[in-house]
Amino acid sequence: MTISSFLRRSLLQSGIAAGTALAIAPDVIAEPKAPAWTLGYTTPPAKGLGPSTMRLVSGKAPAGLEGALYRNGPAQFRYGDAYASHWFDGDGMVQRIAFADGKALHTGRFVGTTKRKAEQAAQKFLAPGFSTAGDPSYAVGSADDVNAANTSVAMSGGEMLALWEAGSAIRLDPVTLETRGPKIWRKDLAAMPFLAHPKREPDGRLWNLAVASLSTGGSMIGIYRIGAGGELEDFGMVDIGAPAYIHDWSMTERKLIILVQPWINTGARPGIGGFEWRPQEGLKTLIVDKDDLKKQRWAQADARAFYHTGAGWEESDGTIRLDVCFTRQPAFGVGGGAAEIRGEYKPGGEGPGAMLTQMVIPPKGDVRLIETKLDGEFPQVDPRFHGLPRRLTALVGGGAPGHPGATTLRLQDWKSGKSQAYDYGVDYMVEEHLFIPKPGGASERDSWLIGTAINLAAGKSEVSVFDAADIEEGPLATWQADYSWPLGFHGTWT
Ligand SMILES: [Fe+2]
Repeated sequence: MTISSFLRRSLLQSGIAAGTALAIAPDVIAEPKAPAWTLGYTTPPAKGLGPSTMRLVSGKAPAGLEGALYRNGPAQFRYGDAYASHWFDGDGMVQRIAFADGKALHTGRFVGTTKRKAEQAAQKFLAPGFSTAGDPSYAVGSADDVNAANTSVAMSGGEMLALWEAGSAIRLDPVTLETRGPKIWRKDLAAMPFLAHPKREPDGRLWNLAVASLSTGGSMIGIYRIGAGGELEDFGMVDIGAPAYIHDWSMTERKLIILVQPWINTGARPGIGGFEWRPQEGLKTLIVDKDDLKKQRWAQADARAFYHTGAGWEESDGTIRLDVCFTRQPAFGVGGGAAEIRGEYKPGGEGPGAMLTQMVIPPKGDVRLIETKLDGEFPQVDPRFHGLPRRLTALVGGGAPGHPGATTLRLQDWKSGKSQAYDYGVDYMVEEHLFIPKPGGASERDSWLIGTAINLAAGKSEVSVFDAADIEEGPLATWQADYSWPLGFHGTWT
């Protein structure tokens, strides 16, 4: 299949592009109750938040912590009495927390997508999405007309990119967060999907997938190879055999690892509602040689569903190990947090959480799964060891009976088999934590872990820095904003 026919299929077979209204319409509900946890799903002012200096509320800023944490997540949850029907459909808002001289400065800005501009002008939801009905009057010419740019961020070629999964990366000014427009890697790749989980080799080269299964029901995916300077080096295509839902993937130093979960687009309905769980097909893994995309092998495992992987590495005999947060079947994503957006919470409402698991893929034969019994999501690794042998994975898990979201930072050591945890407590909703290598440090423990959380007792967002050498000591420093911003998905550090 050529690139142009791949793109054409993306549009022509897409219920999204055809402007098809989904079965689920935005619900119209009276004023919600407003317990503190609903701050995680409260729409911020359209002009954004900050720049505003955050207050150091505990500890001392570690010497040498200079840079900026960027995070992205859905933030437009309602217009008037109409609520977004799926968390993944809210317009993206990028948060930037810049650290210098022991101070932390927060700025939050919505990403100025085509979708957002139209909906802000109309003050109502117009574009179709994962589970949101499109207004028939809303014209959809390409995937970027429905792009919410709400899932992650990545730095490439001096530009900050706001990422979604079914449309272009959106370029932002890295300081002001002003939107510059879609990233076009090559003329014939305009509006080509760019997954929200690019993977960066330690030398700066970036790899990513173009997955259109959400809209096309096709099984061809694109592979981007992007140089450290931000230039597209190559774009190839591989067939993953089925239109599985792919949100994340993995790689080693020499291989791309694409997990094909048996959650398959049947085309019965547009968006996530058209996917069917087929556990009898198991979890298939495609391993592709980075130097020659035609060199491929498959491995088979018991059925698992997942959103996120940590990273992989390869041993001398060719055995591949990677960490994944697995569930037994699709859990979150089906309901999509729609109840929480309306201010309703039922414990366990979207099924059991994910469990950190190591996949062991031998050179021949079936995959072995080593389950840690650590619940959690948003696995992160030290960027200096991405694709290389390593021992640490950070994730957030736990939870409180009275509200959604994680409460605990976890750190798994694969070599010792031991894990550490820091429990923020029931008054927190905790987000992804990233590894930041300490200046001059060499090992994974020579890192800080940095992450945001909403302090429900204070009603404010915070950012905390831990020493990866011992997270059980608690944060080295915590800064608090004068306000809160909604829970997000993923971030990056520059
Ligand atoms: Fe993700």
